[in-house]
Amino acid sequence: MVHLVPFNRNTSSRCILALFSALCLASLGATEELNGAVHFIPDISVSSFSNYGGSSNDGGGLYQGFKNFLSGRLVGSSENLPQTEDVPQEAVPGNPVPRPVVIWHGLGDSYDSDGINRVGVTLRRARPGTFVYAVRVSNSSRDDSQAGFVGQIKDQLEEVAQEIKNIPELQGGFDAIGFSQGGVFLRGYLQQYNDPPIRNLITFGSPHNGVASLPQCENNNFICRRRNELFEARVYTASAQTTIIPAQYFRDPLRYSEYIEMSGFLADLNNERANYHGGGSTVDALVLQERSAVEPVRNKTSAANFAQAQRLVMVMFDADVTVVPKESAWFQEVDKTTGALTPLEQRPIYIQDWIGIKRLGDRGGLIYETLPGAHMEIKESDLTRLSLKYLG
Ligand SMILES: *[C@@H]1O[C@H](CO)[C@@H](O)[C@H](O)[C@H]1NC(C)=O
Ligand SMILES: *[C@@H]1O[C@H](CO)[C@@H](O)[C@H](O)[C@H]1NC(C)=O
Repeated sequence: MVHLVPFNRNTSSRCILALFSALCLASLGATEELNGAVHFIPDISVSSFSNYGGSSNDGGGLYQGFKNFLSGRLVGSSENLPQTEDVPQEAVPGNPVPRPVVIWHGLGDSYDSDGINRVGVTLRRARPGTFVYAVRVSNSSRDDSQAGFVGQIKDQLEEVAQEIKNIPELQGGFDAIGFSQGGVFLRGYLQQYNDPPIRNLITFGSPHNGVASLPQCENNNFICRRRNELFEARVYTASAQTTIIPAQYFRDPLRYSEYIEMSGFLADLNNERANYHGGGSTVDALVLQERSAVEPVRNKTSAANFAQAQRLVMVMFDADVTVVPKESAWFQEVDKTTGALTPLEQRPIYIQDWIGIKRLGDRGGLIYETLPGAHMEIKESDLTRLSLKYLG
């Protein structure tokens, strides 16, 4: 029997051993800024937003120091959290049993955080009897949270796909909700595994087209700027691409050829390598691609899987400054020099259908939604509304 390790211990221990190296410190520090913990807003009481960064249950140690950079973890005092027992566990008699839902949390969050628990409660309230599974790379919340920063996405996806395959309730297929980077990873599951299959996938603030820059530092925050510089200087090295999770979806259009050469995850997921026709600078490379009449090379698995899905709902936060550009949540391309954005439907990845997403779009299965507010700031009522509209 295969023993599933929480996350790739070789690569993570390499990073942990090297934890005092500039790269690791810079990477962990810099990627803290990409925090994708759910910032769940109960509609009822805004005044209970008191314990920012408060009661995380993920141990102490070295890692804790980095966590202090985190802002906007779950909000709403625990006393107000509805207990799971209060939530209907059975389907309403006469109604069909709702389709199960799989949730994948964001960076800085864990599968059993208050925010993620609350998402589960909200989904079961909306549809009594819903089976909800929160993806974890480890049953220890500390390790699970840490695995959002450290490790290799490909390995984690493989383990998660195995777990999902062993959960009896999910065998008939399921709907999925991904928060921040968790949404990109669920798209990875959809394109590369999908057994059992995802029917509807909702992603909240997920950088489908990667992160083009780290979040901007406040003006005089020298430490933050220095950390970002160090991270960006080393991001396209083999060590970062095998140990630092957010490095594996860092896609700097001004360094496109480096990205294509080194990317440990996103370039494959978006099938960019097979379609790259060379060119030194990004802009040239992109222009070349636009002009290219070369037959697109598709991974048939990914296209077939996308074609099977019912919907991909991409939710963007209109005041998101964590994911840069925020429109990556809608799969848009940014020109970092001019700031100009190209919508997905005008990009070669869509037009030439590199990953099968055009088939979904042609059937009306590609949906763009916007929520007001910052990254991962989700109102309970919005989650209920979107889940009733698009899931089940
Ligand atoms: C968590 O624990 C359950 C029950 O022991 C086990 O089946 C599952 O494989 C574990 N998950 C991970 C990721 O280790
Ligand atoms: C296509 O993707 C699947 C799933 O990730 C993978 O197993 C397969 O090797 C890929 N095929 C090619 C030709 O790259």
